[in-house]
Amino acid sequence: MSRSDKIDKVTLTIGDKTLELPVIHGAEGPSVIDVRKLYGETGMFTYDPGFTSTASCDSSITYIDGEEGILRHRGYPIDDLAMNSDFMEVAYLLFYGDLPNQREKEKFSSDITYHTMVHEQLLNFFHGFRRDAHPMAILCGVVGALSAFYHDSTDINDPHQRMVATYRMVAKMPTIAAMAFKYSVGQPFVYPSNELNYSENFLRMCFAVPAEEYKVNPVLARAMDRIFILHADHEQNASTSTVRLSGSSDANPFACIAAGIASLWGPAHGGANEACLNMLEEIGSVDRIDEFVARAKDKDDPFRLMGFGHRVYKNYDPRATVMRQTCHEVLDELGVRDEPLLQVAMKLEEIALNDEYFIEKKLYPNVDFYSGIIQRTLGFPSSMFTVIFAVARTVGWLAQWNEMITDPTKKIGRPRQLYTGSNGREFVALDKR
Ligand code: SDX
Repeated sequence: MSRSDKIDKVTLTIGDKTLELPVIHGAEGPSVIDVRKLYGETGMFTYDPGFTSTASCDSSITYIDGEEGILRHRGYPIDDLAMNSDFMEVAYLLFYGDLPNQREKEKFSSDITYHTMVHEQLLNFFHGFRRDAHPMAILCGVVGALSAFYHDSTDINDPHQRMVATYRMVAKMPTIAAMAFKYSVGQPFVYPSNELNYSENFLRMCFAVPAEEYKVNPVLARAMDRIFILHADHEQNASTSTVRLSGSSDANPFACIAAGIASLWGPAHGGANEACLNMLEEIGSVDRIDEFVARAKDKDDPFRLMGFGHRVYKNYDPRATVMRQTCHEVLDELGVRDEPLLQVAMKLEEIALNDEYFIEKKLYPNVDFYSGIIQRTLGFPSSMFTVIFAVARTVGWLAQWNEMITDPTKKIGRPRQLYTGSNGREFVALDKR
């Protein structure tokens, strides 16, 4: 329905009953049919597993137009933000609705910097894991435990405590993520340095060793920062919806973020970057691409091309465009331009974008397609890719959580179902079964 057909209601006819349902128009994008009174008036539910046609909330944080390949945060296009600002500016924008001026940025960055250390007792959690534990498993466990350390910022009705919990989470996620990485490679934890910016700090906590001075490479730090920006928020995706649903019960923010991390881990969602790199390694060379493309098209084969397709984007994911450019910058900086995986990825992209199956189903590379190659080139194992995604998305999760908590119309999320089980039955005693 084009926006020129500005209508304010729709009519639903059920038998001899006619029901008028209001239509609500947003700032842009699809309008919504308000079905809140449907069950009360008709005794029927709407049915939409996977929420392909359902708006779960209203939000002013991020706007996506999947057909046009548009992604904006508070109205700013993602490529403008990725090329001209940094992750702390984008975090401020998502939280407060406007880009910070110089003074606001310095204060925000300093407030985050001075919360980057974690309670020393938290180190004991890490030592309970096996060394080969997946870093995402460690992240789920350690973040879920944070509410045991920060009781003074778990009252979701206190604006000051919400702000403290938000800043603590943004500040401590990179420290915890780096600790998960260090633990997995058997190296000592590296404490944050207040002299470095967010992305430089993260790279140093991951790659510094006591035996030598760590030198920040500004090109790599800029690439890291851009990866954080590109993954910061993305409207009501699976993990953000998980955070919102968890928060709707007034659970504390640390528990809600841990729930979001768990959802993000899935290979259909944030786990796709790890799965995509593993797929590129399995393909191995350009002459095996056709075999994998054929498998992706085979209805009887569950294999999918990881890093392709998207629920919303039926055009190129604008983040993938920036990620692709960043990938070339990093490989050039490190003199690994002929990285075999990049050759496979570029050839796979070319073949897929010209294959009628992918064209018909509008399957384009998404944010996860190139991010794995950059992160591996930065020195991360594929098991850390989703952890890095979670560090970035923590900003989006918290912005969306704060928006939901401060919404005066907030209600606990409680979907219903289409029941398909047994009808009422008489109980049969054990000796009669
Ligand atoms: C992220 O929601 C977000 O915003 C997520 C995210 C964010 O920032 O939060 O953008 C991050 O999760 C990006 C997506 C990462 N996932 C992957 O790269 C995994 C591979 N992609 C697919 O699993 C899939 O495309 C999804 C899960 C991303 C989207 O699935 P949908 O929207 O439910 O679409 P679908 O599964 O119904 O697919 C539509 C058709 C199907 O064929 P038909 O049943 O119509 O015959 O396209 C086919 C699918 O079989 N298809 C693919 C495919 N993706 C979809 N075929 C081959 N390879 C693929 N990658």
